[in-house]
Amino acid sequence: MKKLFLTLAILLSSAMAFAGEGMWIPMLLQYNEKEMQEMGMRITADDIYSINHSSLKDAIVLFGGGCTGEIVSDYGLLLTNHHCGYDWIQKHSSVEHDYLTDGFWAMDRSQELPCPGLTVTILREMRDVTEKILFKVTEDMTEEQRQAKINENMKHLISDVEKETQYKVSIKPFFLGNEYYLLLNEVFTDVRLVGCPPSNIGKFGGDTDNWVWPRHTGDFSVFRVYADKDGHPATYSADNVPYKPAKHLDVSLKGAEEGDFAFVFGYPARTSEYLPAVAVDQEANVIDPIAVDLRGKILDIYNTYQEKDKKVRIQYASKHAGLGNGWKKWMGVTEGINHFHGVEKKRFYEESFKEWSQSSRMFHRYTNLLKRFDEKYKALEPYRVAYTYLTNAGLNIEIMDFAGNFNKLSQVTADTPQEEVDKMIASLKNATKAFFKDYYQPIDEEVAKTMLNEYLKQPADFRPAFLNEIKDVDAYVEQLFSKSMFTSEEQVNDLLDHFKPNKVKKLQKDPALQAYQSMINFYKEEVNPKMGPINKEIDSLQRLYMKGQMVMEPEKHFSPDANFTLRVTYGKVEGFKPQDGKKYRHFTTLEGIMEKENPDIYDYVVEPRLKELYNKKDYGRYADKDGTMHVAFTASVHTTGGNSGSPILNADGQLLGLNFDRCWEGTMSDLVYDPDICRNISVDIRYVLFIMDKFAGAKHLVDEMTIVE
Ligand code: ARG
Ligand code: GLU
Repeated sequence: MKKLFLTLAILLSSAMAFAGEGMWIPMLLQYNEKEMQEMGMRITADDIYSINHSSLKDAIVLFGGGCTGEIVSDYGLLLTNHHCGYDWIQKHSSVEHDYLTDGFWAMDRSQELPCPGLTVTILREMRDVTEKILFKVTEDMTEEQRQAKINENMKHLISDVEKETQYKVSIKPFFLGNEYYLLLNEVFTDVRLVGCPPSNIGKFGGDTDNWVWPRHTGDFSVFRVYADKDGHPATYSADNVPYKPAKHLDVSLKGAEEGDFAFVFGYPARTSEYLPAVAVDQEANVIDPIAVDLRGKILDIYNTYQEKDKKVRIQYASKHAGLGNGWKKWMGVTEGINHFHGVEKKRFYEESFKEWSQSSRMFHRYTNLLKRFDEKYKALEPYRVAYTYLTNAGLNIEIMDFAGNFNKLSQVTADTPQEEVDKMIASLKNATKAFFKDYYQPIDEEVAKTMLNEYLKQPADFRPAFLNEIKDVDAYVEQLFSKSMFTSEEQVNDLLDHFKPNKVKKLQKDPALQAYQSMINFYKEEVNPKMGPINKEIDSLQRLYMKGQMVMEPEKHFSPDANFTLRVTYGKVEGFKPQDGKKYRHFTTLEGIMEKENPDIYDYVVEPRLKELYNKKDYGRYADKDGTMHVAFTASVHTTGGNSGSPILNADGQLLGLNFDRCWEGTMSDLVYDPDICRNISVDIRYVLFIMDKFAGAKHLVDEMTIVE
């Protein structure tokens, strides 16, 4: 019976690992090749990653610090998402040149806009250096000793390798510290904005549709990588030339059918697939619901005021997007984990792990692991909750968060060097200008009242001291806003313009700054010192648990959690059933944009020019064979944050689209992947080219690419 249980659980765990799950290391893709080809792939692992000849990896880039991009021409032309290029588009925008609203297209290379500070990183080589990094690291070391030894080994290895290469060398842990890989990267620093559609195409659906299918967002922007004459990275210079990659991606106009093999090649940031059940339960059923509840209350307040006033709508648009992105995602995590029994599945697996660990003395070191996880997570919970309140309730009171910027200034003394003070003042002046541009006090007052009432429901030991002195929240908030200088741009500027060290008293007495300090001290003195050591112990248990799983199932091919290194993930183009009785088709079309159109709702305004093309059905060669213009599609490919802008490729390794989101019903895939419900969302490359060519008249860009009809 026991044996049967074990076999069942292993079967289950392997089944869970099949079909879509897994973020694979490109240099080890030969182990996936067979499965990928069985699913329909017509190229080889070596075509995707090779250090001996050009391969698809040469076209994939880390765009800035948080997105993926891909090179699609021999002239360094690069595609990524509109939301990834957003900051750079905004930086180049002004009232006269509002590229966010109107879009931007460089009609020749001289019109391309430099983006100093933006980098594009290309992986040149990856090496398994586990043995070297874990050299002389022993089981009996404390966590500190272990980390010190690892750091020392890393330092030596990096300096050795740096001697033989021109590339940037770094080393990252994989499998929760059981393996280490070295990365050789080339970092390009001359990257220019080439084009982007207007926001009502690039952000169509906005926050209303964020994380949601069916989706109609033309989420792309276009850049170009420049290099010096020898093709090496160089800072901006008019003499630089378009970078010629070892390989660029070919673009397919054939589209994808339901069931077709597809893979995503990019930079997923973070997943946690090997957590114990207790951790998943805590995340999905304790922490996320608190954050969702608090943020939901704030978003309700924003909505009320945003609906009433156009100016306020714009002022709070970006704040709304920021809070709303996590809010919607975490809601999906909780729903998904519970609906698809994520915790139970983990528990079931853990039972078999326990049995296995007792089956031989050799495995006894794993036996108590799960019990210890339970203890540690139980100990961690109140501090995690406290932290969640701090960041979501406390620091979302804008006046307190803003006052926090002045914390350092409030500690200036007569001995502080003038130069340092001047620097602080200059940066605070910028922060002040930015803050008041988008500040609407009635919103903040209401948020403060609501959030403090929520915060006060926490036990007194688990909240900052200033809260314990509040008797009446309304009265406190009214006092706060009437007494604090941080509601008045004039007062703040006056302080900055005439700052002297003897003025810090006024700052120190400000109730908003005092509240901020109380929160930060609470974090520094109460939360962090307790949470830090527990987290360290959890890390070491987690490392052992990962190793145990690998020992228990030596035949299983494990995929390491995402860690912002280049990965290949694969699955099929397919729709899904979000609920009983409901089925989603895998693609959307321009028809859907016209259905959603509503001139009164900001997120659903449609460009007249797009309507014109739609009415004439002027889609050229970008139409699907069904005659419609496909806009976006879903696939069962495992992706996460950071995969934005990643290419989704077909069986021949040709570009089908740009990944930009997931369906909220499947956002639990960061913790537990379920092939029935987890879907990534991509914009169809044919829509991207249609917008470039037919909508924007930038056909010269399409002409640079290698198009496969
Ligand atoms: N949900 C996507 C992500 O996590 C897209 C966010 C940007 N788009 C938006 N409408 N807020 O990054
Ligand atoms: N929009 C996300 C990003 O910016 C991708 C969505 C996801 O989390 O899968 O990376």
